[in-house]
Amino acid sequence: MTYNNKQKLELTWIGKDQQPQLEPRILIEDREKSFGDRNCQNMLIHGDNLLALKALEQEFTGKIKCIYIDPPYNTGNAFDHYDDSLEHSIWLNLIKPRIELLHRLLSDEGSLWISIDDDESHYLKILCDEIFGRKNFICNVIWEKKFSPQNDAKWLSDSHDHILVYAKSKDIWRPNLLPRTESMDIRYKNPDNDVRGVWTSSDLTVKTYSASTDYPIKLPSGRIVNPTGSRCWSVSKDTFEALVSENRIWFGETGNNMPRLKRFLTDVQDGSVSKTIWYRNEVGDNQEAKKEVKAINNEDVFTTPKPERLIKRIVELASNNSDWILDSFLGSGTTSAVANKMGRKWIGVELGDHCDTHCLPRMKQVVTGEDQGGISESLDWKGGGGFKYYYLAPSLLQKDKYDNWVIDKSYNPEMLAAAMAKHEGFRFSPDEHVFWKQGQSTEKDFIFTTTTFVTVEYLDKIHDEMKPEEALLICCKAFQKACESRFTKINIKKIPQMLLGRCEFGKDDYSLNIVNVPLENEPAESVMDTQVNQAEKESTKTISKKARKQDKSDPTLF
Ligand SMILES: C[S@@+](CC[C@H](N)C(=O)[O-])C[C@H]1O[C@@H](n2cnc3c(N)ncnc32)[C@H](O)[C@@H]1O
Repeated sequence: MTYNNKQKLELTWIGKDQQPQLEPRILIEDREKSFGDRNCQNMLIHGDNLLALKALEQEFTGKIKCIYIDPPYNTGNAFDHYDDSLEHSIWLNLIKPRIELLHRLLSDEGSLWISIDDDESHYLKILCDEIFGRKNFICNVIWEKKFSPQNDAKWLSDSHDHILVYAKSKDIWRPNLLPRTESMDIRYKNPDNDVRGVWTSSDLTVKTYSASTDYPIKLPSGRIVNPTGSRCWSVSKDTFEALVSENRIWFGETGNNMPRLKRFLTDVQDGSVSKTIWYRNEVGDNQEAKKEVKAINNEDVFTTPKPERLIKRIVELASNNSDWILDSFLGSGTTSAVANKMGRKWIGVELGDHCDTHCLPRMKQVVTGEDQGGISESLDWKGGGGFKYYYLAPSLLQKDKYDNWVIDKSYNPEMLAAAMAKHEGFRFSPDEHVFWKQGQSTEKDFIFTTTTFVTVEYLDKIHDEMKPEEALLICCKAFQKACESRFTKINIKKIPQMLLGRCEFGKDDYSLNIVNVPLENEPAESVMDTQVNQAEKESTKTISKKARKQDKSDPTLF
């Protein structure tokens, strides 16, 4: 067998190389569902997470501090709210581009935490090694998710989940310490009434021998002692004497014990390092999570939630106040509830109907303070914060009945301008006074999208207003031929031609086989003068209705 130098250790499967060319969609706010303080930047997004993550990419690349995901484990079950049974390579194919996008969104100090069980965890580990680099793997946390053994289990009774932890850069990432618990402090006493407070003592000898720290010590009782066996003292004779004079050495109640070093509670670090096994008494279990979601929606209980204490542990270790937390498999909304209560900024993405039936009411109850379950009591949570509710715009381009790409009829001029800005890498921020300054990529680089036919006279007017150092990209449906080379600082392009071939248009389904995608039965309304066939109408019903509703309430586009 011959080996090519480029061969590497790699997990491979059918379809691995066929990665989607994602369209960067805009996100549209549904103001009727947004809730609480409008100054909060938190986002609840209803839609497929692959397109949603792509939509967030421009604004959030390198900005997210902590990502937690709890994807369908591919267990072979069909849960009430989503299906969890995909062919192995399909599951890998769906998860790969999502993890790649999540990796891009993480900040240099960021980390990704993934809940998974034995069905896919080892494959997922190898896949994540490929995306993050094996050197950035932190650990595999074992979470005790169940207490009672399943005596009817055919093989072993499964009682734990894995949480794979990756840092964007292991050299930079450092977890926070966990708050000290009462049981940790109980070992600290003050038998000699030391004014510095309670202390505990540690061994003064070390294993690595050094003749310079092997000396006899005279105890207060008069007895002479030496380090035992092949050990030596951990400090030099001079340091030992200094410690004795500072009353930092403990010789026992009678002054006749081997010397030990006093360690004051006030000197120890302000917390403890997390271990990699997390027991249910520390972070909750599945049963606790079920109780929490029942308190939110008892009619339609979400089947696979995580307990708030588990997510709190992750958020505590991986972020600080005001950092961004992202969960793109939001489920019943646990991560956003915890992040909000802990004063973090959050983004949650959920595709299923339960975004409306579970996440939305849960987050409203968190914001009002009505939610007193989960971690609320321990944080003395009284409410606060807020969020904006978004959905994904439909694909910008659709095929007409002649098989030509045309702008989707549900795009109004503002949505079109926002979408074009996103496609071209400009930040959409329309200038209040100058109509052609709709977005910027740099201080002097602007974009203008229009549906009107651009003539030379029109172009001249714009050019008259431009400062010499400013440049402009105009995206329009049609223009006079002479416009093309009229000004060096004005680049003019045609929609949709300029977009074709860049990404996949008209594709909405990148989902992990979700069973209950919402469908509403209403005809679409046209805002662009394009003809659509019946199939296109069908695929855009839901969105068009939402888009229309939004027109009335001044949508925030993202
Ligand atoms: C295991 S549940 C997450 C539970 C969550 N951690 C909680 O505490 O409630 C997985 C969720 O991912 C959602 N999901 C699956 N595929 C998705 C996709 N393509 N986009 C967005 N959400 C998706 C499912 O609808 C389901 O709610």
